[in-house]
Amino acid sequence: MAARTRRLGRPPRRAGGSGGRRKARPENSPPADPGYCGGRRGFARAGPLVAMAATRSVMRAVRVFEFGGPEVLKLQSDVLVPAPKENQVLIKVHACGVNPVETYIRSGTYARKPALPYTPGSDVAGVIEGVGEHVTAFKKGDRVFTLETLSGGYAEYAVAAANRVFPLPDKLDFRQGAAIGVPYFTAYRALFQKGCAKAGESVLVHGASGGVGLAACQIARACGLKVLGTAGTEEGMNVILRNGAHQAFNHRDPNYTEKIKACTGPGGVDIIIEMLSNVNLDADLQLLSRAGRVMVVGCRGRIEINPRDTMSKESSIIGVSLFLATEEERRECATAVLDGIEAGWLKPVVGLEYPLEKVAKAHEDIICSSGARGKMVLLL
Ligand SMILES: NC(=O)c1ccc[n+]([C@@H]2O[C@H](COP(=O)([O-])OP(=O)(O)OC[C@H]3O[C@@H](n4cnc5c(N)ncnc54)[C@H](OP(=O)(O)O)[C@@H]3O)[C@@H](O)[C@H]2O)c1
Repeated sequence: MAARTRRLGRPPRRAGGSGGRRKARPENSPPADPGYCGGRRGFARAGPLVAMAATRSVMRAVRVFEFGGPEVLKLQSDVLVPAPKENQVLIKVHACGVNPVETYIRSGTYARKPALPYTPGSDVAGVIEGVGEHVTAFKKGDRVFTLETLSGGYAEYAVAAANRVFPLPDKLDFRQGAAIGVPYFTAYRALFQKGCAKAGESVLVHGASGGVGLAACQIARACGLKVLGTAGTEEGMNVILRNGAHQAFNHRDPNYTEKIKACTGPGGVDIIIEMLSNVNLDADLQLLSRAGRVMVVGCRGRIEINPRDTMSKESSIIGVSLFLATEEERRECATAVLDGIEAGWLKPVVGLEYPLEKVAKAHEDIICSSGARGKMVLLL
């Protein structure tokens, strides 16, 4: 194994760090890492784990021991490389996407909380390092991406269930591979599984310059929709236009909704993929067509709306949660995404890149962005 191997003088306690009984993990919450050595906080009583601890490899990984600001993201260099179980694979991580939800979870204010300590990150791209005994779909050396790790993606190695891992073709680099999972699956789910989009309809991607937004622009364009998108900078607008949007608008321009209305005419827009509902939902209801749908993908607070605005057009406000997708829906997303890669229209756009050491800065920047231009990724 390529990971650095170090003899540990004392045995690790089991993942969980603080030594008490581990709390049951809430449904859908990111898991705590199964293979954590624990650094200074992880050493405990001697016992049967001594031999294993003395031989297993260690790696660099980001660990969160308490919920809080970006400063709780601790880069450690003595975290045990997790071992894949029978239906799992071990991935040598080359890049990991940063998703806004990882900042909400880290802060401890999100509905889903992992057991502490944990390693954040789900959108990993890399190379298969090892496979569990029942895995036949992958072998050491295969290039892959996933949107769901079991041990956390902000790390040099991560384990994932083999059925949640997909081949990464040579034409996409690892940074692009790390930009596929959550953004494209969410965009597909919002457009088709929840929004029932059809070719010939129009879609406004409200917040199109980031990970989910650019994915939505590419998918919608490839499937025959008329695509309008917004960004907060000139550069962001240009990225949108290069990635499927027919028209781009600046959501920092005070008159931009009037410009969108002028573009759509009195008919309005059929679907809105909304990245900041707490700011835009009221305005969205004015932009919709009859029987139009607002897909609530992102929301960071409350907003007042007049429900009457939905009556006058029989419009709908629909929440989207990738976490609630069924196995069958996940397979459908994967099929669409893999088909898009093969056909060539799915080309993830990578924005800001950070080394693992700068993970706290990445978490600050994704929330206080001065203008997205693609998916933010950590490089390992
Ligand atoms: N529901 C789900 O299952 C699910 C899944 C994934 C993500 N999400 C959520 O979806 C949102 C977007 O995720 P992401 O990964 O694309 O984040 P991202 O890469 O950080 O992009 C954020 C986007 O929001 C835009 N934005 C900023 N201010 C805006 C405004 N006033 N009106 C409209 N858009 C605005 C940004 O544009 P500029 O930077 O150009 O201003 C950028 O395009 C986040 O809130 C995330 O938590 C939800």
